[in-house]
Amino acid sequence: MTPLERANNVSDLRLMARRRLPRPIFDYIDGGADDEVSLRRNVAAFADYELIPDVLNDVTEIRTETSIFGQPSRWPLMLSPTGLTRMFHGQAELAVAGAAAHHGLLYSLSTMGTTRLEDLAQAFAGPKVFQIYIFKDRGLTAEFVARCRAAGFHGLALTVDTPVAGNRERDRVSGLSMPPKLTVRSLLSFLRHPGWSVPAMTGSKFDLANVSHKVDALASGPMSLFDYIGGQFDRSIGWREVEWLAREWDGPLAIKGVMTPEDAHRSIASGATGVMISNHGGRQLDGAPAPVDQIEAVREAVGDAADVICDGGIRRGSDVVKALALGATACSIGRPYLYGLAAGGEPGVNRVLTILRAEFNRTLTLAGINDIAALSLRHVHNRLRSPSHAH
Ligand SMILES: Cc1cc2nc3c(=O)[nH]c(=O)nc-3n(C[C@H](O)[C@H](O)[C@H](O)COP(=O)(O)O)c2cc1C
Repeated sequence: MTPLERANNVSDLRLMARRRLPRPIFDYIDGGADDEVSLRRNVAAFADYELIPDVLNDVTEIRTETSIFGQPSRWPLMLSPTGLTRMFHGQAELAVAGAAAHHGLLYSLSTMGTTRLEDLAQAFAGPKVFQIYIFKDRGLTAEFVARCRAAGFHGLALTVDTPVAGNRERDRVSGLSMPPKLTVRSLLSFLRHPGWSVPAMTGSKFDLANVSHKVDALASGPMSLFDYIGGQFDRSIGWREVEWLAREWDGPLAIKGVMTPEDAHRSIASGATGVMISNHGGRQLDGAPAPVDQIEAVREAVGDAADVICDGGIRRGSDVVKALALGATACSIGRPYLYGLAAGGEPGVNRVLTILRAEFNRTLTLAGINDIAALSLRHVHNRLRSPSHAH
């Protein structure tokens, strides 16, 4: 058995990633904002939901196929956009997208990714979404729309929870900067992880490949990522800009970072086709509610047609079953695949997706569900809201 095969769950892969990465890099993936309350709640909230099984249902065959952003997906999971992926493994986004394609899942590339969207599209035929921001320079956003269309991206996810960078204190303590550089504090940790450090320091150039043509200063100067975000992100944007983007793109568009039924409704009214309920994995507004707790109300607000994606906190396949029962179209994961990537490149991401898929199918089987379309509120119960006998 290889070490990856010995990993039983996402938690095991997280520990493998922690061993493999220098501490500042691991903390960049693993950490959240302020006191990391939302980060912990995102995961813990799933445990408050009980699954109510149906027994004596024929579960020899289980139907899990669905459609997200209008694209087919083998089961209701997608891979969230994450920036700076080359920092975690030399194969970067191509490894993640490759594993997503192997598993028949949608992949989303971040604006802050380290692979050009055209290169990603060329290497990866599967369904793909580009995560976009509305920058101060609207021309840059419009340029992304045109590039995504030309490259054959199927959808856009507009991230709206990042008017400023969150206060990630682990990164401040470790002195993490962009591109990663050695500080006295982190030097020892880098030296202790030559398996990561040598390729990272000598390998292909580390770059925000999709925006670097506009911000040369970033590649050459001492500017940190935080300065960059502060400079380009537009705090003045509102719903008018969503309407503008929906018109420009004229295709599947999800607003990522929506938390309330009101904003979900407004997203659809402004031309989006879906929402990603998300607090950016607890990396932005600490204290924001757990996405899973918002699903039911959001679904009610947007009706049946819109995509409602629960993004954040998923660590088990059973979490996806709970989210679907509450009304989600699908779930989306960030850290779980990054742990796999750091632990072992594309095979590591494959391992995570295999584990989650097996957990998902086993949970459905045990819950007596032979078609995900049959999942409903009847199958899930929040033990904090009412005693289960009242169900
Ligand atoms: C290392 C890292 C980088 C991220 N970069 C981005 C990004 O560039 N754009 C974005 O919209 N979200 C980004 N996210 C948030 C993810 O898309 C997603 O919302 C979050 O990871 C979901 O929570 P989870 O990690 O618990 O699955 C990032 C998350 C992580 C962990």
